[in-house]
Amino acid sequence: MTLRQLGNSDLLVSPVGLGLWPIAGITSIVDSAADSVSTVQAALDAGINFFDTAYSYGYEGQSDAILRQALQGRRQQAVLASKVGMHWNAGRERVLDATRATILKHTEQILQRLGTDYLDVMYLHAPDGTTPIEESAAAVSEVLKRGWARYAAVSNVTLSQAQAFHAVCPVIAIQPYFNMLQQSAVTELRTFCHQQNIALVCYWVLMKGLLAGHLSRDHQFDPRDRRLNYDIFRGESWQRNQDLVDQLRRIAGQVGSSVSQLVIAWTLAQPDITVALCGAKRPAQIIDNAGAMKLTLPPETLAEINACIAQRGPVS
Ligand SMILES: NC(=O)c1ccc[n+]([C@@H]2O[C@H](COP(=O)([O-])OP(=O)(O)OC[C@H]3O[C@@H](n4cnc5c(N)ncnc54)[C@H](OP(=O)(O)O)[C@@H]3O)[C@@H](O)[C@H]2O)c1
Repeated sequence: MTLRQLGNSDLLVSPVGLGLWPIAGITSIVDSAADSVSTVQAALDAGINFFDTAYSYGYEGQSDAILRQALQGRRQQAVLASKVGMHWNAGRERVLDATRATILKHTEQILQRLGTDYLDVMYLHAPDGTTPIEESAAAVSEVLKRGWARYAAVSNVTLSQAQAFHAVCPVIAIQPYFNMLQQSAVTELRTFCHQQNIALVCYWVLMKGLLAGHLSRDHQFDPRDRRLNYDIFRGESWQRNQDLVDQLRRIAGQVGSSVSQLVIAWTLAQPDITVALCGAKRPAQIIDNAGAMKLTLPPETLAEINACIAQRGPVS
C-alpha cells in the first residue's frame, strides 16, 4: 500500500501510524525503554512514517524522550504529530487545559523534549469544556504562525466543535476513536471530513489490544494494567468481545493474516479513513501491524467481518 495524502496538506503518511501512548507507560506496563526505542525504529524500517505523540504521553514526557532517541539522524523520514491541551497535575490526575497560554507553553516544551524545530502536525488534544473552542483554535493557529508546526488538527470533538475549530483554524486532520465496535464518532464526522478534505486519523483501532487477538479469553491481567478499568475488558462484555475475536481468528486463518492485520485492513477499507493509529510496545507488534498495509480484503471477507460485528453489536 502506498503513502496517503493527509487531508489537503503536502504530507504523505503511511496508512498505519505508530501511536506512542503505550510507550508512555501510564495505562500499560513498559518493561524496557530499549524495546520502546527499537519499536519506533522497527516501525520506520517497516515503512511506517507517521508517529503520534502528545504532551501528556508520559508523566514527564517519556514518549517524546523515546522518539527523540529513536529518530536521531532520521527526523526527516518521520511525520511527527503531537497534541496539546492535556497534562498531569502533581497528583498525577489528568487535567484538560486548552487555554492559549498553556497551548503555547506546552508546544515550546514539546519541541525542546523532541529536539526538533517543528512538528508536522499539532492537534488540540480535546476541548477542555471551559475555554471557548475558538480560543483554543486561535492558539493552535498561533503555533503555526510561529513556525512551531506545519499543520493544525483537532481530536475528540463533536461535529459542531470540529466545525467551530475549522472556521478559526483550518485543520488537515481530525482524530476520533474508531474500531469495529465503536464507530459512532466517525459516523458523525465523516460527511464533514469528506466535504472539507480533512483526514480521519483513527485511534483505538485495536481497542487497546482486545482486537489484536493476542489476549486469550482466560488472560490474567497484571493488576497494574489499567485496561481493567474499561468495561470492555471485564465480565459479560469481555466474554462477548472474545466471541467476536474468535470469529476474527477464524477469518484471519482463512485469509492467512494475523488478527491484528485483519482488523487494521478492515479499518483502512472503511470510507474516508486515512490512517489507522496502532499502539505498540515491542518491535514484533509494529512489524506485524505494518504487514496490514499490504493486505487488501476482498468484498466477501469484508461482508463476513461486518456480519460478525453486527452480531456482537456496538459497545459504548
Ligand atoms: N487523541 C486521543 O485522545 C487518543 C486517545 C487514545 C489513543 N490515541 C492514539 O492512538 C494510539 C492507539 O491507541 P492505543 O495505543 O491506546 O491502543 P490500540 O492501538 O488500540 O492498542 C494497542 C495495544 O494493542 C496491542 N498490540 C498492538 N499491536 C499488536 C500486535 N500486532 N499483536 C498483538 N498485540 C498488539 C498491544 O497490547 P499489549 O500491551 O497487550 O501488548 C498494544 O499496547 C495511541 O498510542 C495514541 O497515539 C489518541
